[in-house]
Amino acid sequence: MSKQAGKDTSHWDDYWRHGALTSCADAFEGNYQGEIRRVWEEFFRSAEYDTTILDIGTGNGAIALIASQVAAELKRDFSIHAIDQAEIDPLAMLKPDTAGLATIHFHSKTAAENCGLPDHSVDMVSGQYALEYTPLEETVTELARVCAPGARLLFVMHHADSIVLETAAEELRLGGLLENSGFFDHAADLLQQMDKVPANKAHRLAADPKAEESRNLLNQAADELKSLASQTANPQILQTAMNSVSDCFQRQKVLGSQVLQLLAQYRQQLEANLARLNDLQKASVSDDNAREIVALFHARGFAAKPMEDIFHEHNLLAGRLLSAELPTRP
Ligand SMILES: C[S@@+](CC[C@H](N)C(=O)[O-])C[C@H]1O[C@@H](n2cnc3c(N)ncnc32)[C@H](O)[C@@H]1O
Repeated sequence: MSKQAGKDTSHWDDYWRHGALTSCADAFEGNYQGEIRRVWEEFFRSAEYDTTILDIGTGNGAIALIASQVAAELKRDFSIHAIDQAEIDPLAMLKPDTAGLATIHFHSKTAAENCGLPDHSVDMVSGQYALEYTPLEETVTELARVCAPGARLLFVMHHADSIVLETAAEELRLGGLLENSGFFDHAADLLQQMDKVPANKAHRLAADPKAEESRNLLNQAADELKSLASQTANPQILQTAMNSVSDCFQRQKVLGSQVLQLLAQYRQQLEANLARLNDLQKASVSDDNAREIVALFHARGFAAKPMEDIFHEHNLLAGRLLSAELPTRP
């Protein structure tokens, strides 16, 4: 398998290292459920006995696992390749007893547009919130190369009008305001000043104009964030920031100067979260994008129908479904 160099995937590397099975870990306990799971089970159940499957943008392998579980249930011998541009190691990150994991060939740091599999070696391709993150023209060209005649492909993609995108846009807006408020910088300044004063001389801090200025700026920023949090339906990102800073102040006495590292870690997690939301926003598929993507598949020799919408319970838009097929040889 070819490796991908030079792309910053750290925000995804971190996410998968923390052991979530899907990219929607807040919405699903364990693996995808409901309509999304049904769609994938139906797809993999239609596979021949010894099908070779390629799951692109696999993350910790949620969709590859469904394929593996279907293979076990139907006693079929699928060969499953699961690739991601990010650094992944699901065998180490997930619970070792996750059924079906060991039968999957995971390929870390492997981009969909340069996956390194042999020509015409793949019978089925899957991608859950995956294809739309990749450089589409290059990926579809690569898929045309690796797919065998008659190969079938299925992708669930982010819908630009879904609640997920609405929430992401709001969180990104709040993330920008959080950054502009200087909240983390003011917290770091004050923690630094506190570290210079011995614990039994804390009263000196109140008399230090520099520390007083940092304290005032921090309080102003905190007031701003509280007010923003009270006006939004998605205050999580602000609450996480405020809880993180509060945790650092509580642990300052014990951790001393190391508390600054903790603060930096919290900040880095938050920034990684925003970077993933930014990727998500860029990846979302509008009506026009949907038509362009289908046209791209046609141009590379695939048959593909117009995309369909796919819904969660309560009629919530979950994404767009693209199915494509490479004709069998005449
Ligand atoms: C939203 S996550 C979906 C992961 C998984 N399919 C799931 O549903 O849980 C998108 C994934 O696509 C990966 N990705 C982004 N660009 C890629 C590329 N060019 N080739 C392969 N994977 C890519 C990211 O690293 C990330 O793990």
